[in-house]
Amino acid sequence: MEFSLKHASADKVRSACVIVGLYEGGKWTPSGEAVDKASAGYLGNLLKRGDIKTKAGACTLVHSVPDVSAARIVVVGLGKPDELKLKTLREAISGALKAAAASGAEEATLFSLEWSAAGTSASDRAMHSVLVASDGEYRFDHLKSKKNDQDRRLKKLVIGAATRLSATEERAVTQAAALGSGISLAKDLGNLPSNICTPTYLAQCARELGKRHKFKVTVLERKELEKLGMGSFLSVTKGSQEPPKFIVMEYSGARKKEKPVVLVGKGITFDTGGISLKPAAEMDEMKYDMSGAGSVLGTFEAVAGMKLPINVVGLVPACENMPSGTATKPGDIVTSMSGQTIEILNTDAEGRLILCDALTYAERFDPAAVIDIATLTGACVIALGHVATGMYANQDDLSAELESAGHAIWDRVWRMPLWDDYQEQIKSPFADMANIGGRPAGSVTAACFLARFAGKYPWAHLDIAGTAWKSGRDKGSTGRPVPLLTAFLMRRTAG
Ligand code: BES
Ligand code: MN
Ligand code: ZN
Repeated sequence: MEFSLKHASADKVRSACVIVGLYEGGKWTPSGEAVDKASAGYLGNLLKRGDIKTKAGACTLVHSVPDVSAARIVVVGLGKPDELKLKTLREAISGALKAAAASGAEEATLFSLEWSAAGTSASDRAMHSVLVASDGEYRFDHLKSKKNDQDRRLKKLVIGAATRLSATEERAVTQAAALGSGISLAKDLGNLPSNICTPTYLAQCARELGKRHKFKVTVLERKELEKLGMGSFLSVTKGSQEPPKFIVMEYSGARKKEKPVVLVGKGITFDTGGISLKPAAEMDEMKYDMSGAGSVLGTFEAVAGMKLPINVVGLVPACENMPSGTATKPGDIVTSMSGQTIEILNTDAEGRLILCDALTYAERFDPAAVIDIATLTGACVIALGHVATGMYANQDDLSAELESAGHAIWDRVWRMPLWDDYQEQIKSPFADMANIGGRPAGSVTAACFLARFAGKYPWAHLDIAGTAWKSGRDKGSTGRPVPLLTAFLMRRTAG
């Protein structure tokens, strides 16, 4: 999809479809007013007759409005002006763009900068307009042999503004387009089935990203992982025929000596559970168990696309978790790269086993902060559902940064406790720790396991088990938390 900004008046702009807002109670936004005036009260008459819906999010399509240059006008309800929140703003944009696309228009001009939602600037609104549009136009249909020819889509979005636009707003649009492309990449990687999106495929994708954006990519193979002593990561790979990969991406947008932010993504390209085999129902969704990895690659696409002046390292341990005659068995004890030993009581708690070695590997970059991203626990879905990502941090400042970035970009996290009390649950009689802590607080004990490997730097853990993809009728990757990670990195460059 193509995005641009245009300084224009809503009644005069040549467009297949102009989108204007209407507040509850019948108060027009400036652009709605402009269209109404130019058409000698045409819209106002429709409104009086009750032909224009005024509820927040409701859309009305009006054709051939007299003395207006656009072929169609979509009026979208914004609710009460002083109650307009970011959530409503995004829903209004999404609904209006759907109505525009359904009308047959291939291009739309959206006057959303004047919809002053609480706590947003005009550039925030420009950014959200592009992100919502890009999310709505996303399709994953390249594996269907016939395309759906009834599927009407917008090819171009123009963000219209009656007032002059600043350089910041212009930049917000190009940055949002780069972020949109990173989100789409993460969605594609998540939606790809595990027979295509293998560890080797992820590594190849990282290499191509590196080539396109000119950053360094190294892929460590099994031999090198053995030499590094990644006994925990390697234990997960033992049941699979697919070779494991450990992907290292190094984007240097800032001065050499500036400490990097290290992003670590769980890259289980399929999680059967291993010998602790999962039940059959919905097991297909375990192709999404590499969504953490996908979010790291997606964030690199976004950050490199924006040429952000920051140093970022991406680490992705990638493998399959399969049962077989050579697979790790419950009760097996392995030695991690850190030297700590782990009793594997459940081979389905494999995410923490691959992440812990990556967290140890991260130390060599002398990181400013390390953030790991993982579809780690079903328990996190029970705790927070599909709204907030579970967030854990060993530092309050880092936690606050993630919370506020998530809120601003509408990719929210909720902080969970990392208290020592929970460490009791992962004690083992035979090794330094067990890889499971029983049913209570399953997301917390998983995080506590990781904390034992992340003591040497500011660290946060994002459990995206509930937020990385949607199940059911709109099954598909959400691309989260690429918006959160990118917003977090953008804010680090601003201050
Ligand atoms: N990838 C799963 C977590 C998961 C399950 C995410 C369902 C989203 C939906 C992870 O590897 C796993 O299997 N975790 C186990 C841990 C348990 C054995 C302690 C879980 O959550 O059941
Ligand atoms: Mn598992
Ligand atoms: Zn898993």
